[in-house]
Amino acid sequence: MTDSFPSGFQWGVATASYQIEGAAAEDGRAPSVWDAFARSPGRVLGGDTGDVACDHYHRYRDDVAIMASLGVRAYRFSIAWPRVLPRGHGAVNQRGLDFYRRLLDELGRHGITPRVTLYHWDHPQALEDEYGGWRSRRMAQDFADYVGVVVRELGDRVEHWTTLNEIACFTHFSYDVGKPGFHAPGVALASRKRVWQTSHHALLGHGLAVQAIRAHATRPCRVSLVDNLTVPVPVTESPTDVAAASRAFGAVGTNGGVLVPALTGRYEERFARAAEARGELPDMEPEDLATIAQPLDELGLNVYTGVYARAAASDAGFELLPFPGGYPKLDMPWLDVVPDALYWAPRHCVEQLGFGGDFFVSENGCAARDALTANGEVLDLDRIVYLRCYLRQLARAIADGYRVRGYCLWSLLDNFEWAWGYAKRFGIVYVDYPTQRRIPKASARWYSECVRQNRVV
Ligand code: GCO
Repeated sequence: MTDSFPSGFQWGVATASYQIEGAAAEDGRAPSVWDAFARSPGRVLGGDTGDVACDHYHRYRDDVAIMASLGVRAYRFSIAWPRVLPRGHGAVNQRGLDFYRRLLDELGRHGITPRVTLYHWDHPQALEDEYGGWRSRRMAQDFADYVGVVVRELGDRVEHWTTLNEIACFTHFSYDVGKPGFHAPGVALASRKRVWQTSHHALLGHGLAVQAIRAHATRPCRVSLVDNLTVPVPVTESPTDVAAASRAFGAVGTNGGVLVPALTGRYEERFARAAEARGELPDMEPEDLATIAQPLDELGLNVYTGVYARAAASDAGFELLPFPGGYPKLDMPWLDVVPDALYWAPRHCVEQLGFGGDFFVSENGCAARDALTANGEVLDLDRIVYLRCYLRQLARAIADGYRVRGYCLWSLLDNFEWAWGYAKRFGIVYVDYPTQRRIPKASARWYSECVRQNRVV
């Protein structure tokens, strides 16, 4: 087992526009679905909103300086569609683009490579009002048109473009059956088929956006999708349990209905058969799946946890094991510590989906109960242990030949954690929100040493 990473490995950090920027109504930005959702009573813990967040819109130079002080070489961030096209389409807001030009230039001055996510859940509320957002097929083309604008305007500064972040989280978490989703826009739909229709539209938007990037890029670039795939981990690495975990991959979470069609051009057969039997398969045009499965240069893996699988004498050929009550978790209900997921994620994508491009870890990290000590430190030893265990598994994957080119730690800063508001802290830098002071945690110093030595320390 090695702790070292290849020369040139791209150590980075990740954030997202609505979670850190603030300046929600500044320089022509229009409301996103998350602005509207956060204002709807009871949707976000404590009534928190992204109105100010980490005030990154004004403090970005300081935040880039923190990245540089840590030695990170890449910064994954997202562009807020409502800053660029406030109505979702039509008039371009140059003042919104100017912010991203300033940010990209600041990163350039520090030699930090930008990894730009074109959509991290915050689409203009105007599109939700006009035609129901991702419920409508129109959203796919509007998204691709917005992507074309951004790539034309900023393409001279960006090599790495990601279309969408975590399709399932802005469709299946946002639209539910019989009750509103717990993510924006938080709408109840009449059937599960309608919910799968939203993720189908998002997949179509992804495919059209890849085509738009390739059509409008003004320099060679690398295009990716970022997904929070569910990662089955064999409970033992016996041949039978490994085979069970491999078989489980296409059948767990939304893998069969999101990542599989995005990478292979078909809905996973067990998913499709079961969805068809329940009348839940989305409506699609004959050319949809070919449009969706555009060749990708890279795949971004958002990996925080996993599920344990073992062989079973059943039709499924596997069973998923429940976590015992005392199983180690970090500070989110779903954040069971499963470090081997970072090894199995690229391996499953190669072995089960035949993905032949490069990988990067677009998100990995944890919330922890961070608190300032009497002398103003945050001794987040739990986060250090979590990250050390996951990064060792990533080093193992690379040593086994999986082409993982970089790692973007989630997150640089404590930030707006969606329905949890500011109650959850994922940053390696503590944000004292009343003063907006940034305080690097013990994990920041630890991560900086990993970067400096290019290995897990
Ligand atoms: C996600 C999102 C991030 C979250 C992070 C912690 O993966 O859900 O991309 O915006 O804040 O993952 O939940």
